[in-house]
Amino acid sequence: MRFDTRLIHAHQPPDAATGAVNTPIYLSSTFAQEAPNRNRGYVYGRTANPTRDVLERALADLEGGARGLAFSSGLGALVSLLENYGTGRRIVSVNDLYGGSWRLFEHHRRQFGLRIDYLDMTDLDALRGTLAGGPTDLVYLETPTNPLLRIIDLRAVARLAHRAGALLAVDNTFASPALQRPIERGADIVLHSTTKYLGGHSDVLGGALVLRDAALGDRFAWIQNAAGAVPSPFDCYLVLRGLHTLGVRMRAHGANAGAAAELLEGSRKVRVVHYPGLASHPQHGLARRQMDGYGGMISIELRGGSAAARRFMRALRVFTLAESLGGVESLVEHPATMTHASVPRREREAHGIGDGLVRLSCGIEDPEDLLDDLRAGLRAA
Ligand SMILES: Cc1ncc(COP(=O)(O)O)c(C=O)c1O
Repeated sequence: MRFDTRLIHAHQPPDAATGAVNTPIYLSSTFAQEAPNRNRGYVYGRTANPTRDVLERALADLEGGARGLAFSSGLGALVSLLENYGTGRRIVSVNDLYGGSWRLFEHHRRQFGLRIDYLDMTDLDALRGTLAGGPTDLVYLETPTNPLLRIIDLRAVARLAHRAGALLAVDNTFASPALQRPIERGADIVLHSTTKYLGGHSDVLGGALVLRDAALGDRFAWIQNAAGAVPSPFDCYLVLRGLHTLGVRMRAHGANAGAAAELLEGSRKVRVVHYPGLASHPQHGLARRQMDGYGGMISIELRGGSAAARRFMRALRVFTLAESLGGVESLVEHPATMTHASVPRREREAHGIGDGLVRLSCGIEDPEDLLDDLRAGLRAA
């Protein structure tokens, strides 16, 4: 089956007992056993739940991995990933990443002696040099990055990571498997905040890890059960429901973002537009090769800095000022004071996240309404 069909049917057959075409929500924290440890594959809800199983199998199928594991949030998935890396282990991470992921890495560095080096992974020579600096256990990246929409060459980084004896983990939240499947390009672990495009309606928090091979799958399934950051069956159902429309939504998000990026790039109020679909984007060629579309996320730097950014955001009516992204409704936010506020100013600015930066999550409303809204924002800026 092709991707859009798998979104709806992969591992989601009609319910065997009733024929219900949607996966039932099994609200049960425990399961009856015929004799001690003789059961039908379900014992306790933290370890496994039938609704969660369907979601986990669907995620593994869509990302092309051996095993999918669902978590209660994207950061729940990340902290479970970090459970595998204790004192003295080393992670090499991209420097432009979600502020909450950075905050968690820093906590593990201070609290547990994890070693972390950050760098711009669009520079493969810099990555080669950093990897040569000592044994590395994990290379971690986002592509497109949050919030600067940089594109990183998955195949090249996977090769360098593996040569250094490290695994590659990719946060695929911004692209979703509809646009990019990192495991096909050599990644070992894919992470998601399913809160975003996979859920797609801003009504559920969730996270996921998808593992390339079964042994890694068993390792992280053990951690999932031992650490317990699992989602409720109802939340699993909401993510499954969102998955059904992921293909059509991503095409609409991409079309709207493409039109918005062109409008913004044509304005003299805007210093730079970060959108991988624009020919002016430094990694546009790589994005074209690596992705099946450019996604719904844009960030812009306004010429008037922080004050212009505030005027721009205040004038918007269709874009709602709110954290998060990936829902059907358009959102706008100010990374320096919102999603990336936990990154100290000096590091934020060194990574290119200034006070004039505004991030847009383009929804699937009528494109003309989005463009009118952005024109009003630009006039106010
Ligand atoms: C790229 C990325 N990864 C991970 C996360 C964390 O996900 P959650 O908010 O579901 O914990 C976010 C949240 O904004 C994100 O943008």
